[in-house]
Amino acid sequence: MTIRRRRRREIEQFRLARDIDAAVLDLPKFVDRRLKHIARDLRHLDRRLYQQVVSYIDLRLRAGFEVPIPPLRGHAISPDTAIFMDDILKALRPKAILELGSGFSSALLARHCAEYGGTLTSVDHLQEFGDLAAGYVSAWGAQDFFDLIIVDVIEQPLESGEHTLFYDLAPVAAKGIKFDFAFLDGPPKYVSEKVRGGFLPLFKDVLSPGCTILVDDYYRPGEMEMVAGWAADGLVEIQQENTALEKHAAVLKFVGR
Ligand SMILES: C[S@@+](CC[C@H](N)C(=O)[O-])C[C@H]1O[C@@H](n2cnc3c(N)ncnc32)[C@H](O)[C@@H]1O
Repeated sequence: MTIRRRRRREIEQFRLARDIDAAVLDLPKFVDRRLKHIARDLRHLDRRLYQQVVSYIDLRLRAGFEVPIPPLRGHAISPDTAIFMDDILKALRPKAILELGSGFSSALLARHCAEYGGTLTSVDHLQEFGDLAAGYVSAWGAQDFFDLIIVDVIEQPLESGEHTLFYDLAPVAAKGIKFDFAFLDGPPKYVSEKVRGGFLPLFKDVLSPGCTILVDDYYRPGEMEMVAGWAADGLVEIQQENTALEKHAAVLKFVGR
């Protein structure tokens, strides 16, 4: 090895050792920062879990102990949203409820109809989940107030000539009902990222003026964009944006024709 080459290698080794020294000196600060982030995330998680436990107990007390409550959250409504929706239903007492995306929420909505009057029309694109919802509704003793419609999610023409993907409107429109409350919780995002955006342009003729729309999963950018677009188009007024719920929710008033 030439003297010049050895000298170059010594310089490289010196630089590497210097960089390692600097990184080691910085390590405690780095670990401290990471630990602070982890502690903050754990506090956040702890608050969220506590909120769900408190809401679950509230839900159980409202429902009674004789009816089943399946595991919630994930695809199903979260306990805190269930309580939020139940409070809205009790305040508004709607008589014609439309649910987009059946499930455990169907039991809550149908039971409300059984207690306070009204009917629930629930729409799903999968028989399997419609059947599951029907099972919850029966177990909650509200099957006489529940009408399940299984439809495809398809491209449909709008008045503007454009097309939009959403649950097939025809079987719902054929019922001839004007709904005064809608719970928008389907189709699922895996069908298409912005699929729920098709609801208002397409289903507006089956909604009564002033119909309240509860939008679940409002933490998602797609849902926020969708609601902002409807508000900008003069279809809805945003009455509440509840960001305290784990999946967030928006309460809208239908003001379009
Ligand atoms: C957000 S979920 C609707 C949940 C329902 N509103 C509830 O509170 O239980 C939207 C749709 O996802 C589908 N779905 C429900 N559970 C699912 C699961 N575990 N895996 C895949 N799809 C599911 C159903 O077709 C349902 O209509």
